[in-house]
Amino acid sequence: MGCDRRRSRDPHDQALLTRARLLSQWYLPSVTVPDWVVAFLLKFQRAFAVAVVMAQAGIAVTGSIVRVTGSGLGCPTWPQCVAGSLTPVEHPEVAPLHQWVEFGNRTLTGLVGVIAALCVLAAWYAKPRRKRVLKLALVQLVGVGVQAVVGGITVLTGLLWWTVSVHFLISMVLTWLAVLLYAAIGEGDEPARPLAGRNLLRLQVVQAGVLGLLLLAGTFVTAAGPHAGDAATPRLDVPVETLSQLHADLLFLFLGMLVAMGFALGSTARRAYYTLVATVIAQGALGMVQYWTGVPEVLVSIHVLGAGAVVIATANLWVHTRERARSDQAQRDDEGLRSQTAGNSVASHV
Ligand code: HEM
Repeated sequence: MGCDRRRSRDPHDQALLTRARLLSQWYLPSVTVPDWVVAFLLKFQRAFAVAVVMAQAGIAVTGSIVRVTGSGLGCPTWPQCVAGSLTPVEHPEVAPLHQWVEFGNRTLTGLVGVIAALCVLAAWYAKPRRKRVLKLALVQLVGVGVQAVVGGITVLTGLLWWTVSVHFLISMVLTWLAVLLYAAIGEGDEPARPLAGRNLLRLQVVQAGVLGLLLLAGTFVTAAGPHAGDAATPRLDVPVETLSQLHADLLFLFLGMLVAMGFALGSTARRAYYTLVATVIAQGALGMVQYWTGVPEVLVSIHVLGAGAVVIATANLWVHTRERARSDQAQRDDEGLRSQTAGNSVASHV
């Protein structure tokens, strides 16, 4: 209720609302979507959100396959694969396998874009339209566009190590936000209410920062290591042992915070908590094994998959330690919709 009152008084919100209404009047009447399409979008809204979580984490894995197979410059230009062609064609300097691996990764970006677009459409046609869900879905779609451009910059700079690092980190941020999108579909739009103590929530913010540093340090290890994407790619000129040590130290810091969280959480979100603990331990063990065994290609890609899993599990714990109630208005809208649907079905039986 508080939220409704605020909404009706705030002139800024009013102006935004009016602008949104005008926009929808301009664009929507020209797009008439059959009822079955809307029903399909709404029925599978959660499935689209799950798919976008998996796609955002998954495309980082296919990106790592591009790296470990040395196919980073399999398509040496962008947006075309080779000068004059969007798709791979015979080229004297590039092996067909490298072309197809890199081209496959580029094509997958299109698939992630389609899934993100389905999330946006489902959010747009939902009744009532939920601002937070729509915003989070739009972030996914815009993120895919941004990644296509950053991927292009990565190719055009000859896989410069920090462009690869930025490319990977954006994927991880999008994966985190995709988890928030999935959670947002099932919750309300009121401000988040903590389910655990405020200190724990603060600790989670710091932990998210440490996770960011851990991922960043991982990309530094890659940049200094043997799998930077192409034999000619300039490496980060820092001893790989030093960077691996930093990477592992950040893991220990992350683990220490997880232990502290275990005490502070009490009985809240135990399942999400233990899932995160198990994922982090498995990923840390895998990291050690790949370090001791000379970073074999297959373990590198599994380690990237593990990084995505750690991000998903951390974001999952985040959403399980706070809740958002439905606003009174949203509940009234829902009830109105339900009684309208009931009325329609009664009418159709008469
Ligand atoms: C939760 C724990 C961990 C996470 C989330 C994590 C994440 C990452 C990430 C994101 C990368 C970069 C991948 C890329 O640029 O494509 C990476 C690389 C790497 N990590 Fe970890 N890591 C963890 C633990 C460890 C540990 C404990 C070790 C052991 C020293 C380790 C060893 C490595 C190595 C050797 C690489 C470079 C692989 C390559 O050459 O591409 N990691 N890690």
